[in-house]
Amino acid sequence: MAEFKEISPDAPIADKAMNWLDNRFPASKLYKEHLSEYYAPKNFNFWYIFGSLALLVLVIQIVTGIFLTMNYKPEASLAFGSVEYIMRDVPWGWLIRYMHSTGASAFFVVVYMHMFRGLIYGSYRKPRELIWVFGCAIFLALMAEAFMGYLLPWGQMSYWGAQVIVNLFAAIPFIGPDLALLIRGDYVVGDATLNRFFAFHVIAVPLVLLGLVVAHIIALHEVGSNNPDGVEVKGPNAPRDANGHPLDAIPFHPYYTVHDIFGVSIFLMIFSAIIFFAPEFGGYFLEYNNFIPADPLKTPLHIAPVWYFTPYYSMLRAITSEMMYALIACVLAGAVLGVLKAKIAGLFKLIIVGAAVAVVGAMLLIDAKFWGVVVMGGAVVILFFLPWLDNSEVKSIRYRPSWNKYLYGIFVINFLVLGYLGVQPPSAIGERVSQVGTLFYFGFFLLMPWWSRLGTFKRVPDRVIFAAH
Ligand code: HEM
Repeated sequence: MAEFKEISPDAPIADKAMNWLDNRFPASKLYKEHLSEYYAPKNFNFWYIFGSLALLVLVIQIVTGIFLTMNYKPEASLAFGSVEYIMRDVPWGWLIRYMHSTGASAFFVVVYMHMFRGLIYGSYRKPRELIWVFGCAIFLALMAEAFMGYLLPWGQMSYWGAQVIVNLFAAIPFIGPDLALLIRGDYVVGDATLNRFFAFHVIAVPLVLLGLVVAHIIALHEVGSNNPDGVEVKGPNAPRDANGHPLDAIPFHPYYTVHDIFGVSIFLMIFSAIIFFAPEFGGYFLEYNNFIPADPLKTPLHIAPVWYFTPYYSMLRAITSEMMYALIACVLAGAVLGVLKAKIAGLFKLIIVGAAVAVVGAMLLIDAKFWGVVVMGGAVVILFFLPWLDNSEVKSIRYRPSWNKYLYGIFVINFLVLGYLGVQPPSAIGERVSQVGTLFYFGFFLLMPWWSRLGTFKRVPDRVIFAAH
């Protein structure tokens, strides 16, 4: 038990109250450790605002979600009408609903930017692997949250989108059909599906998300933030002042709280402009087909998920039976390279050959649809392994060989093109482009252990680069 601190009977009442609290709950200690004496590198830039923005959007989604739940009806015959009721009759209901629907897209914009920052500054490298892994788990939970939330308005896209995605699980050999049945709770998407998705969307997944966000931040505060230079400001050799505080870092509060309030203001301006002037955002945030009530007898001509899922959806569609040959060639090439190049014992080489033969056999036997699902899931799962794929000498892109910038640029363009193609109806040229894009996406990560070591690295400065502004 911590020592009980006495306070003078003449102390101001506020100090007495604080002392009473601190003797029972570590309020001041937490405030100091995580805010007023949490030292963060002084050279944070634009890219460092998105963590705080993600926290803000999380709060917006939870608060607006609570109010939506007060009037929403999770029942197949009432759901669509209850959303219309919220939009037309509930006082300020339209605002709450638009905040929530725009918040969903904003969440993904913010999180994609946040992840990209991690990618370019090597924030996932030692000792921050776990921050990244928790982040990837957050991303997965967020995808599940968005997918299940989208069924709730019970429009045509809600219904058919869920139908398509849940049917994908049925492609898994042996357990697939039963698994799809378990998820739906029925042979088609129906009232049972809506009820369970509602339960997951309003309580189960948000609890997981909140827990993961807390773990993410605890892990971050344990090791301290990275920065655009990738220089450790709290490392054993980092310069410190007479009080032992790192010279290249500043207390989070007030410096970064003020900095973040500025970022939050800009964000809120853009966020409100969208809510008030373009809540559907050209059909990207709220799809037009979703203003039509779900009709199990009428399949829409073109079913596309919301924009934030479309890069992965493109990868799913890219895996045709023809593409399987390209994938088999990749597996074989990987195995040959592993056997020829890797410095491992003969037994391991034999295991590689055996595994490659087994995988190719499975690829020939099992339908391409299943491999599409594997590729789509793999595109997210591979992110978890990033800390162990990157062998570069330095963390930040600033000190990597210059061509790395182009490579990361192409990676972003490729991801955007995949996203664009995922919104479009299928076409022959689109299919080819998304196949090349899928190969590039996986090549980027799977070949990273090799390419990240290549080239001439620039000298990393001893201290962070910072120009006062
Ligand atoms: C609800 C979603 C999320 C929230 C609320 C959140 C929150 C935060 C906050 C507040 C920070 C510190 C401020 C900053 O560095 O920007 C941070 C840092 C970080 N986050 Fe997240 N995050 C989320 C999702 C993710 C995801 C999806 C990833 C990656 C897959 C990720 C990876 C990281 C990394 C690597 C850092 C350390 C960055 C550095 O020190 O340079 N986060 N996060």
